[in-house]
Amino acid sequence: MPIVLSHVQIEPLLRARDAGDTSATTSADLGRTETRVTLDDEGILYPTGERLRWEDAARIVKNNSVCFTLSGDEIAEIRVFSQTTNWVRSLYPTQSAPTMLVSGVPMHRIKDTDPWRDTLAKVKTIAPIMGRVLDTATGLGYTAIVAAETAAEVVTIELDPAGLEIARANPWSRDLFERANIQQLIGDAAEIIPTLDAASFARIVHDPPQLSLAGHLYSEEFYRELRRVLARGGRLFHYIGDPNSPFGSRTTSGVMRRLHNAGFARVVRRPEAFGLVAYA
Ligand SMILES: C[S@@+](CC[C@H](N)C(=O)[O-])C[C@H]1O[C@@H](n2cnc3c(N)ncnc32)[C@H](O)[C@@H]1O
Repeated sequence: MPIVLSHVQIEPLLRARDAGDTSATTSADLGRTETRVTLDDEGILYPTGERLRWEDAARIVKNNSVCFTLSGDEIAEIRVFSQTTNWVRSLYPTQSAPTMLVSGVPMHRIKDTDPWRDTLAKVKTIAPIMGRVLDTATGLGYTAIVAAETAAEVVTIELDPAGLEIARANPWSRDLFERANIQQLIGDAAEIIPTLDAASFARIVHDPPQLSLAGHLYSEEFYRELRRVLARGGRLFHYIGDPNSPFGSRTTSGVMRRLHNAGFARVVRRPEAFGLVAYA
């Protein structure tokens, strides 16, 4: 895996150089682990042989809304254009796990929290996580990874292969590709879920793109499919968005009504996770 960097790791190294230091502790994987680097006249030398030139370090700090890979002595932005959806996707750094920007919109909460804490809050609403879990929208795989820690199996669906390309470059998504109990499916969740067995999941995480990007993932017909594959006693978490925003509160009432119509017995607001939990 190449080195992955953002302004969060590089700013302190520029300060260390300016202070006259010749070595420093940093991270080569967006803060997951630490490593020691050498600072010399030309740039930053990593113990695995890669070199980041000072002019490239300055470029990373200047472009603080995207993460970069470093291979050899070349940097590249982690950004792709999707032929499937025509969406531009990029890996957006935070002080913790990065999020993915899809057409400029972050896929996780970053205000007053961070993408990893956001993920833990979502998954906690349907604890205990057990049995088989369906994750309707893979994204960076964070919900799938956290669910897989205690689930027997997680089946996760992603429409856009370009999304998985970004996830592959993200050190925080590594378990998505390495955990044996995560099964990845590529396609539209609305087409794949009808092919899955009835009552075959104990938990569902539904963390779709916003309503304007994927309206059919908020439809009563789709919710009927979620209800069908959920086993007796099962729980569904549905992310919606800030319940205090006009958009969030309007969407929440419509979603609650359609979930009831689709056969869920009880639907409970979970504002701490910006969503709802529906019980089979
Ligand atoms: C909000 S993100 C999911 C974030 C994810 N839960 C995580 O923890 O990283 C939504 C994802 O759903 C994908 N998506 C959009 N439409 C979809 C569909 N019809 N079926 C499956 N995935 C879809 C998008 O490409 C995007 O990557």
